[in-house]
This record gives sequence, C-alpha cells and structure tokens, in this order.
Amino acid sequence: MWHPNILKTIGNTPIVKLNRLTKDMACTVLVKLESFNPGGSVKDRIGYAMVEAAEASGQLKPGGVIVEATSGNTGTGIVQAARLKGYRCIFTATEKVSKEKRDLLTAYGADLVICPKDVDPEDPQSYYSTAERIAAETPGAVYLNQYYNEANVQAHYQTTGPEIWEQTEGQVTHFFATASTGGTISGSAMYLKEQNAEIQVIGVDCYGSSYFTYFHEGIIVPDEIYANQIEGAGKEYLAGNMHMDLLNDYTRASDQDAMKMARRLVKEEGIFAGQSSGLVLSGALQWLEHHPQEIRPDSVIVVLLPDSGMKYISKTYNDDWMREHNLI
Ligand SMILES: Cc1ncc(COP(=O)(O)O)c(C=O)c1O
Repeated sequence: MWHPNILKTIGNTPIVKLNRLTKDMACTVLVKLESFNPGGSVKDRIGYAMVEAAEASGQLKPGGVIVEATSGNTGTGIVQAARLKGYRCIFTATEKVSKEKRDLLTAYGADLVICPKDVDPEDPQSYYSTAERIAAETPGAVYLNQYYNEANVQAHYQTTGPEIWEQTEGQVTHFFATASTGGTISGSAMYLKEQNAEIQVIGVDCYGSSYFTYFHEGIIVPDEIYANQIEGAGKEYLAGNMHMDLLNDYTRASDQDAMKMARRLVKEEGIFAGQSSGLVLSGALQWLEHHPQEIRPDSVIVVLLPDSGMKYISKTYNDDWMREHNLI
C-alpha cells in the first residue's frame, strides 16, 4: 500500500511507553512522538489543515501567496502543503529560531524574514506585525495566523485527540502538552473530554511566558514576559486558540530542566526529541511527583512531544551552546 502524496502521511504518530525514566513510578507514562510527521513536527497537522481551510473559504486562490509568523515548525507544515499545491510562501520568524529550522524552510523553498526577538507583539518590527504588513502589501497573499485560525484547533480535535483516545483504547487518564497557539492542547482536550470528562488535561509552560500566571490568576504580568531559550513553547499574550477553560491545571518548568530532560530522554530511552518536548516531559514528571495521589496502577499518562532533536543539534545537543547559555 502506498500513499498518494506526502501530505497523506501526516498524523497517526506512534505512542511509546517510557521505561527507564519512569522506573519508580507505579503508573504508565506514554509519549506521543510528533517527530514522526513528514515535516518532523506536530505542526504538519495544522499547516495542511490551514491551507485547505483557506482554499475552501476562497481566500487562497490558485497561484496565491501564503504568509505566516512561525517559530519554524508551522512554516514547515505549511510549505510542504504549499509545494504540492503551487503556492509561494513568505514566513517571518524571530532570531531565536535554530539554524536547522531556518535551513529546513529554505530547503522547502520558502522565503524567510528574520525579525528581532525582544520586541512587543504590537511593535512594527515584531514577527507578527511584519507578517501582517507583508500580507497587506503582497497581491494575492493570505496571512494564515495560526494564533487565531480555527482550523488549528479543529485539526487537533479531528486527529490528535482521536488518535490518543484510540491508541490508548480509551484508557488515557491524564494528558500533558505545552502550548503556544494553544491549538494542540485545546483541540485534543476538547475531543478527549467529550469521550471522558474525567480526563485531566495539564498544560506545561516555560518561564518568560504568560500562560501559567494567566491560568492561575487570570492576569498577564508584563514583568514575567521575556524571550527564553525554548523554541515554540509559551506566549506573551493569550492566543485566540488557547482555551484555558478546557484545562485542569497548568504547571511550568525552567529552560534548564527542559534541556536536561531532552538530553536524558535520548540517553535513557533512545528518543531524540526537541526542546519543548524536554519542557513538557520535565513539567509532567515534576507535576506527578507533587501529585502522588494521581499515580495509580490504572493511570495512563500521555505526554505529547512536539518535535525532534534533529531541529536543535546546534543548540540543546551542543555542549558549547549549552554552556554559553548557562544551561549546563
Ligand atoms: C516545538 C514546538 N512545541 C510546541 C508548540 C506549541 O504548540 P501549539 O501552538 O499547538 O500550542 C509549538 C508551536 O509552534 C512548537 O513549534
């Protein structure tokens, strides 16, 4: 059996049990490996879905141009769909994005505009404002805006959530994800809670992001917002696709914990995952440590790992970079 094209290989990513990292825990901890998508991340799901939605709505016409603000992975998801469908892509990203991710986008043939990382979202130089401006100035251009695009949450409601439910045969009790647009956690939570309202959905934030405090206190504290080292996780404002009401708890972990966990994961379990994967897994294991009553023989914990370590060879897996940033 063959697939008619690469886009049809998106999704149905494997779920794998952790053994060594969790050897003292009397429950089952599973990781969902989104690096198995053809563009190497969870964002292939929404890239394809947002392009198809823009076509269906008539916004994106043959020969059109797709513009998006991305930390790299959404761009890869979009451009792989755009290549097959004949659209040009212009992406904006911040200078925080790894060389691997930038090179990947240009390998697919996208045009990339790099913007400063330490500016407010409303600043004309920010990668959001720059994407909006390019879309307004370019004839036939559509700004997909993953932070507000409903096809983002829908893609996870229709694919990620059902996969987790079916792959665990309905036994999942806890679901952990990190959030930026909020699409992964919101869409998956929406589906899982429809199947079983008892499933606990827990977000893992990074320091420098607004989500942890927003969940617990309902406010954004400007002094807490800064550019950390973890690509793709967290947000400085509440994205439209972040449905906090679907979450049961929010925890957070440090850059250092995230990078260390990613490095342990490959050494102890042979799973080569990215920075935000280290973040969500370290946050999940710490949360479980603080909630021992949740660790039962019938607890089935699913942690979604968004991408692969291949995208951070020059960072998390490079001792010089880790030392330069005081991470080891
Ligand atoms: C590596 C990585 N992890 C996590 C996320 C967060 O996923 P979501 O935008 O669905 O909340 C992203 C999104 O850009 C990402 O690229």
